[in-house]
Amino acid sequence: MIVLVGFMGSGKSTVGRLLADRLGLRFVDTDETIEERVGKTVAEVFATETEQWFRQLERDVVAEVLNEPDAVVALGGGALGDPATYAALEWVDVVHLDTSFATVHARLGNDAARPLWAKGDPRSLYEERLHAYREVSRLSVTTDNRTPEEVVDAILDGLHLDVPGADGTREVTVRHSGGAYPVLVGTDLLSSWPAAIALPASAERAFLISHRNLRAYSGAVRSALSAIGLTVRVLEIPEGERSKSLAVASELYGALAADAASRHDLIVSVGGGVISDLAGYVASTYVRGLSLVHVSTTLLGQVDAAVGGKTGVNLEAGKNLVGTFHQPRGVICDVSTLETLPREEFVSGMAEVLKYGFISDPSLLASAGIDPLKDGRSVSEMVSRCVRVKAQIVGRDERESGERAVLNYGHTFGHAIEVTSGYGSIRHGEAVALGMMAAAHLAHVQGRIGQDLVTVHRGSLEAAGLPTAARLDLDALSDAWRRDKKYEHGPRFVLLDGPGKAVYGVEASEEELREALRRMER
Ligand SMILES: NC(=O)c1ccc[n+]([C@@H]2O[C@H](COP(=O)([O-])OP(=O)(O)OC[C@H]3O[C@@H](n4cnc5c(N)ncnc54)[C@H](O)[C@@H]3O)[C@@H](O)[C@H]2O)c1
Repeated sequence: MIVLVGFMGSGKSTVGRLLADRLGLRFVDTDETIEERVGKTVAEVFATETEQWFRQLERDVVAEVLNEPDAVVALGGGALGDPATYAALEWVDVVHLDTSFATVHARLGNDAARPLWAKGDPRSLYEERLHAYREVSRLSVTTDNRTPEEVVDAILDGLHLDVPGADGTREVTVRHSGGAYPVLVGTDLLSSWPAAIALPASAERAFLISHRNLRAYSGAVRSALSAIGLTVRVLEIPEGERSKSLAVASELYGALAADAASRHDLIVSVGGGVISDLAGYVASTYVRGLSLVHVSTTLLGQVDAAVGGKTGVNLEAGKNLVGTFHQPRGVICDVSTLETLPREEFVSGMAEVLKYGFISDPSLLASAGIDPLKDGRSVSEMVSRCVRVKAQIVGRDERESGERAVLNYGHTFGHAIEVTSGYGSIRHGEAVALGMMAAAHLAHVQGRIGQDLVTVHRGSLEAAGLPTAARLDLDALSDAWRRDKKYEHGPRFVLLDGPGKAVYGVEASEEELREALRRMER
């Protein structure tokens, strides 16, 4: 549901219709719905009834529309004056079409069909409403000097929405200091993707790094690369986190050296986060850097590990202690591969999906119970929305000198939970889910969010099949934090100040932490 708010004359109806067309959704204009219902124009209603009567009717219409299936809704200019309408919009994508008073004035002139414009003091009304529009919206888009099409593009971009191509494939661009690359999200991409990615013109060979149990996928990728004239060599490594090691990296270096791989060649990873982290690390270090493409086959890989350029291997002393930043030339997220992913791996990946929902894009929370076997198109949309959030954050802070830290929501607790329970005894996604629940309690203890948002955390995580309650020992967690590479004179947390509003580098007192953990026990 996308709700457009803005002053009369800001273009809500024109932009709303175009936006609905692009997204294949219904368009609802609440003023028009009211006019149809009472058989009078809004101007006639204002002439014959009180404004209070009109607002009551408007409140009922808005409540009905928000409970109906997805749509683009243009909200009447004064609808936010009603507290019930205002509250109902908290979990909806609200976009403010921000138009200057001068532009509104030029557009409306003396429009008698707008009763509150033609009479009274329009400038005061404009100032008064502007505040409410800004407060309720997730996205503000300036409309001055923009065509309706340009406004629609800005909305699609700002809300991480995209319009799939004719074959249903969605493309998200990741920008970084060295350029940009596409992330393709869709179905049946394994054999068609080489045409869509800028591969090095001088490449003669491709080294494909994968697992034995993923041969159905690596075989398709191999054929696609052979079809464009590359000689393909498949390098298989054992499954599991233990393969993300210097020892396995060293075996891969040996295999590349034996084949005299050069900087002109290409490395392609086919697998989940273990494969993409390891292959990325090898691609960035062997002969000081080879081109890289990730074909990601797990939910966690598609929404997180394969995007953003972090590579790494583990040491005995800890996870991801050795790594580089090495951006790929492209990432392929074929969501049909998720159909063979074990259920528990899919659920684990959902923790990261919901993470994006909590920190940036609340509409993702509606995906909590999604089933990859039944909802292919929705999974595709969900993955591309997540990738868009990550792409935007990575685009602004590639090397995690600041804002990229918000991607670690739930991870300060989560990593410590993994350490204290012993690696392997709890899945990464489960630990992150508990971590986000603990972060929500902590944010509530600190007075940043209300109990309602804590309840939303619990509901979304449980709907995805993730845990939300645990008995956690602060002393043990503190011990793990002290040994973490991100420890800075105390643990730092990513917390929320509201839905989709993450802040990072937050400190917490021992009392606050104890209280948050006490609430985790439920
Ligand atoms: N670089 C980053 O930014 C980043 C971000 C998040 C996580 N990670 C890393 O990602 C790793 C975890 O990744 P993961 O969860 O994808 O685990 P994984 O790569 O180990 O894959 C999980 C399991 O699923 C199997 N599998 C993969 N695709 C399959 C498919 N389509 N069908 C059936 N089975 C399939 C794999 O063989 C494996 O057994 C961790 O090492 C973590 O540190 C990296």
